[in-house]
Amino acid sequence: MFLHGTSTINGRGHLEIGGCDATVLAESFGTPLYVMDEELIRRRCREFVQAFEESGLEHQIAFASKAFCVMAMCKLIEEEGLTLDVVSDGELYTALQAGFPPERIHFHGNNKTPDEIAFALDAGIGVFVVDNFHELALLNAMAGSNKKQVDILLRVSPGVEAHTHDYMLTGNEDSKFGFDLGSGAAMEAAKLALLQPHLTLLGIHSHIGSQIFEVDGFRMAVDKLLQFCIAVREETGATFRVLNLGGGFGVRYVDGDTPLAIADYVKAITGNISSTFTSNGYPVPAIWVEPGRTIVGDAGTTLYTIGSTKDLPGVRKYVSVDGGMTDNPRPALYQAKYEAMLANRANDADEETVSIAGKCCESGDMLIWDLELPKAAAGDLLAVSCTGAYNYSMASNYNRIRRPAVVFVKDGEADVVVQRETHADLVKGDLIPARMQNQPTEAAKR
Ligand code: LLP
Repeated sequence: MFLHGTSTINGRGHLEIGGCDATVLAESFGTPLYVMDEELIRRRCREFVQAFEESGLEHQIAFASKAFCVMAMCKLIEEEGLTLDVVSDGELYTALQAGFPPERIHFHGNNKTPDEIAFALDAGIGVFVVDNFHELALLNAMAGSNKKQVDILLRVSPGVEAHTHDYMLTGNEDSKFGFDLGSGAAMEAAKLALLQPHLTLLGIHSHIGSQIFEVDGFRMAVDKLLQFCIAVREETGATFRVLNLGGGFGVRYVDGDTPLAIADYVKAITGNISSTFTSNGYPVPAIWVEPGRTIVGDAGTTLYTIGSTKDLPGVRKYVSVDGGMTDNPRPALYQAKYEAMLANRANDADEETVSIAGKCCESGDMLIWDLELPKAAAGDLLAVSCTGAYNYSMASNYNRIRRPAVVFVKDGEADVVVQRETHADLVKGDLIPARMQNQPTEAAKR
């Protein structure tokens, strides 16, 4: 397994993260356990800040909290001086509870409810990224009745769709998000937004995909957005001050993943923004980005205890762990690939090929197919790397499995930032209707 961040193999032959021995973490906090390398998260934040400072552009770096939204993370992001992107009242509430300054929060989403809008207006968040005509009208009306003037960006869908290794240019992007550039919806939205008395249109936003390794898609998006800026200025006289390019920069999950370093992503994207805008006679806008995965992805490691194994000679050997799709749905959802190692026997040579199964009642609950490992036995500790983004945040209670704890590790210290769910947590919202209580059961009646 590739060792990310502060991860090393210590003198006892154990995986160590943030100066903490993985076997001690497992004993202290139980498994499955999400271990987050705090120093690596901070390093990633600083890489973005430094790269943007070097670009000379006015900028804002918002952590896309959907990747990992817990109070300690919001606190860390505040300390690192980044802003925060939220997409629900739950993420917003988490940030506010952590004391995150509301004016540094952006609110995304293609169907913000009136309650969510009211909550965000009341909190005084910095910017709404308006996704559609319904929201535009609703937000203006609600801002008016709250006697507020609200800064907005318009989310446009530029017809560029990027994936890990390739990108696509589509005339009319088939997407639920944003105002389409190709059909003219974006222009109509810009004109309408400029007429709303309670909204201030700062600029535009586009997000072209996730886990992207190449920069061409971003560059194509910038070109299209520039053309749009120019067209809006010609038709309305308005100039945009902000261009938000979203997130989507890729990280290394397994061998063969070849992301750029953060500094190189930023350089490649921002490199000619100034000259492109200036040569078109357009004031250079502030560039905003919203990285999620690049900030937290490789900082996460999940520790599992190995239990049962099932050997089907000539077919496959299944090794089961005490978690699975409930703490990491990505393999089942996206066929995502992961690397892993035995954290308690990190120097042992690989001896066999096994497949790592989760414990859910579902054949598709497989974490890793065909992994080289030493011969593993019950009680061994499996570490799966690069689980920091979209693992905790997409975890579920399927099969009423309790969600694991999350610990931040740094300089030999481990702090629980999310407690392991208890059995009581599982039923805390459950109610049995009164009419079902004190009733003779069907069995008793028989
Ligand atoms: N901004 C917007 C508007 C987004 O929709 C997203 C991700 C981001 C920023 C952050 O993208 P990132 O830098 O993390 O790629 N659950 C999936 C990923 C879905 C991403 C959705 N939007 C996964 O586990 O891969």
